[in-house]
Amino acid sequence: MRFTVNQTPHEVDVPEDMPLLWVLRDELRLTGTKYGCGIAQCGACTVLLDGIAMRSCQFRAADLEGVDVTTIEGLGTPETLHAVQAAWIEKQVAQCGYCQSGQIMQAVALLEVNPEPSDTDIDEAMSGNLCRCGTYPRIREAIHLASQKVGA
Ligand code: FES
Ligand code: FES
Repeated sequence: MRFTVNQTPHEVDVPEDMPLLWVLRDELRLTGTKYGCGIAQCGACTVLLDGIAMRSCQFRAADLEGVDVTTIEGLGTPETLHAVQAAWIEKQVAQCGYCQSGQIMQAVALLEVNPEPSDTDIDEAMSGNLCRCGTYPRIREAIHLASQKVGA
């Protein structure tokens, strides 16, 4: 399968039913994307596929051909953070951090389609991303802040 991850072309030879999450973590060593539940219930494994937030634990390698994948590693750099990453730091969102790359990818996808989301919009868009540490209020604040940064 040939596809792009974070603007870098890749070709892998893996079983067709291997989840994208395994391709990213085990084949490409991109471990920023996390394995939470493996059954599309937690959102920890969220990445962007052609700009759309998807659960990488549910996406088969067989369907990767030609797809443009963005993971947390591809959003920004330590010197030039993505607006969502910068807002996450400013609002000190993360606690244990395990769910956070999935949360950030989901937030990026939300702001792409809705640059000025309301609290309700945010709660709806983020409802599939679980955080056992309960960072939801700070996630909401950070998304509002990122929205201002993107719009500035
Ligand atoms: S690991 Fe994919 S949704 Fe939980
Ligand atoms: S920060 Fe710990 S699970 Fe979300």
